[in-house]
Amino acid sequence: MASSKDIEKAAGVLRAGGLVALPTETVYGLAADAMDPAAISRIFQVKGRPPSHPLIVHLAGAEQLDAWVQDVPVAARVLAEHFWPGPLTLVLRRGPRVPLEATGGLETVAVRVPDHPVALALLAAFGGGVTAPSANRFGSVSPTTANDVRAELGDAVDFVLDGGPCQVGVESTIVDVTGEAPTILRPGGVTREDLEAVLGHPLAVPSTSQVRVPGQHPSHYAPRARVVLVEPETVIAEAEAASESGHQVGVFLPAAFADVPVKAHAVVAVPASPAAYAQGLYGFLREFDQQGCDLIIASLPAEQGLGLAIANRLRRAAGPRHTV
Ligand code: TXA
Ligand code: MG
Repeated sequence: MASSKDIEKAAGVLRAGGLVALPTETVYGLAADAMDPAAISRIFQVKGRPPSHPLIVHLAGAEQLDAWVQDVPVAARVLAEHFWPGPLTLVLRRGPRVPLEATGGLETVAVRVPDHPVALALLAAFGGGVTAPSANRFGSVSPTTANDVRAELGDAVDFVLDGGPCQVGVESTIVDVTGEAPTILRPGGVTREDLEAVLGHPLAVPSTSQVRVPGQHPSHYAPRARVVLVEPETVIAEAEAASESGHQVGVFLPAAFADVPVKAHAVVAVPASPAAYAQGLYGFLREFDQQGCDLIIASLPAEQGLGLAIANRLRRAAGPRHTV
């Protein structure tokens, strides 16, 4: 676990224009000074991410909001007050100090306050905002431990802060509050139900096909192995058939079939609790890769609560692969 000396060192790396791997409650981020265009461009280089894809600015507290954004609607204040620090990102109108490099050229900017003691300590020591996309190469699985970051990025990151395994395990929920009604752009760690309870009205969740969010490709969060989604009742039969035909199959065994033996290369029994499933999801995908699986068979959980974010990530992991 990162010490206070590590925090000081990491703040120095940020001030010098370097990149720090930062634990958050959702996934590990690749952090740079949000006011330093050169440092931000290194993030894109290291990730292999197209420069048009906007980043999230991480702040130490809601009181910093007005320094980074303008025209904050009441709904945004209510959500910030209620869910920060926490896995909620708000898209607002960009304040003049935010470099366009951080927003992919957009006039809006995504901001959040992470709920992790190490992240908050670094933000306090650094004093400014940091842009931090997930600390993985573009399109691949987000890291949820410091070791995942090291395996993924190696020397390309200047300093890794170890904050233990991420508690939430999937990225923040992104809510666009620049329009007439708040809209969920990406389901994540804060559930739609919790947002609706606080706002007092239903929220629009555009389907993946409708939404044109920069940086949201059909294929994302993808392991090396191909991911195929099937109905829960056919997971075992599909996995065994693919194994028979020579595939190294990794199986997400639905909780309802947890006790059924499956003939496959690697089997993960899906945790019955959505929170535990979300927390483990990326680690399971990485493990299938490490075990040499070339095919992963999974089914979608019920799309409520955290199940909405899990299903979104599994769909994208199974989506058509893109070339950069
Ligand atoms: O939980 C998280 O949000 C993690 C941790 C590290 O904080 N970060 C994260 O960042 O997931 P990243 O870069 O992997 O995903 C950020 C997404 C982009 O893909 C983009 O879709 C969306 O945020 N985004 C950022 N700025 C936006 C904007 N101005 N308008 C719409 N979407 C935006
Ligand atoms: Mg990401």
